Amino acid sequence: MKKTIALLPGDGIGKEVVDVTVEILKAIAEHFNHQFQFNYGLIGGDAIDQKGTPLPEETIEACKKSDAIILGAVGGPKWDKNPVELRPERGVLLALRKALDLYANLRPITTFDSLLDSSPLKKEYVSGVDFVIVRELTGGLYFGKPSERIVRDGEDSVVDTLFYKRSEIERILVSAFEIAQKRRKHVTSVDKANVLESSRVWREVAEEVSARYPDVTLEHMLVDNAAMQLIRSPRQFDVIVTENMFGDILSDEASMITGSLGMLSSASLSSSGLHLYEPVHGSAPDIAGKGLANPVATILSAAMLLRQSFGLEEEAKAIEKAVDNVLNSGTRTADLANGEKAVSTKQMGEEIKNALADDHAILNIMEAYS
Ligand code: IPM
Ligand code: MG
Repeated sequence: MKKTIALLPGDGIGKEVVDVTVEILKAIAEHFNHQFQFNYGLIGGDAIDQKGTPLPEETIEACKKSDAIILGAVGGPKWDKNPVELRPERGVLLALRKALDLYANLRPITTFDSLLDSSPLKKEYVSGVDFVIVRELTGGLYFGKPSERIVRDGEDSVVDTLFYKRSEIERILVSAFEIAQKRRKHVTSVDKANVLESSRVWREVAEEVSARYPDVTLEHMLVDNAAMQLIRSPRQFDVIVTENMFGDILSDEASMITGSLGMLSSASLSSSGLHLYEPVHGSAPDIAGKGLANPVATILSAAMLLRQSFGLEEEAKAIEKAVDNVLNSGTRTADLANGEKAVSTKQMGEEIKNALADDHAILNIMEAYS
């Protein structure tokens, strides 16, 4: 298979984790006889410094010419004082989501048996957790207009708007039900229907969509209760679907079930078929350049890419298995080491690459004898 992948490493640890992930993808290409071409694009602080804008037009063009996109992370203290459109988080992440219509953000939360001790929650609560948060990513409170300071009753005031077209609610719910059909067939739709009109319409649409998927059960849950249930009994969830801002908050909370934000991968799916994959963590300027970052979130995002965008199930599984094997062997980056000996970002990548090669060698031997 011949494919082009756009790489947007961005700022801080984004560069380190993307570098390591590219090595893994090259190894996959070699083992499975694919050709991956990589198209680099400038985003974030670097792009502001070099081009005067956080998301240059040529970067969007490079993405559009590719079959899938991997993004590292953006932002850092150097640009924190910029006006909001020139801040990497908004100027890149939100702008790119909108420009490419990346409306369905999938954030899987799965615990690794070897990391159960790394979660701040008790083992018996987090073992066997396996759910996915489907966060609406191009509407809701993040994008509603007006969003501005105004004067009301002669007083300095402010307004943000939670806006959805019915079709936007419908398509994200459809995504959630489609995903649930391939999993344990349970959708938890999270809202605040006891207060918000937008949530009441969300519920209405959820019921309508649900009728088209009789094999999937639908449950409604208020967002405050969902925040509590995620800690109390996270195993109950299969697919959680929710509004942009609720999904942002709940996914950071849920990350702690797995032990580290450094483990969480994500996919943002678009209507066009050009999808973006990125770690859930940010640019972590405090540890950037020190080899302390955990590359697993980005590596697992690459596995999601191979499966979702290229249909390469075996290759995706090979990466996931290699990560699992390396973690089982006790190798840890600093975020998971509990003060014990940790390996660097690069070393972690090397270990995973070696595990891939070992596994592949075994497979080849088995094939030769079968
Ligand atoms: C995320 C991040 C972003 C968001 C920020 C950096 C704009 O927190 O991807 O979850 O809120 O969507
Ligand atoms: Mg977030």
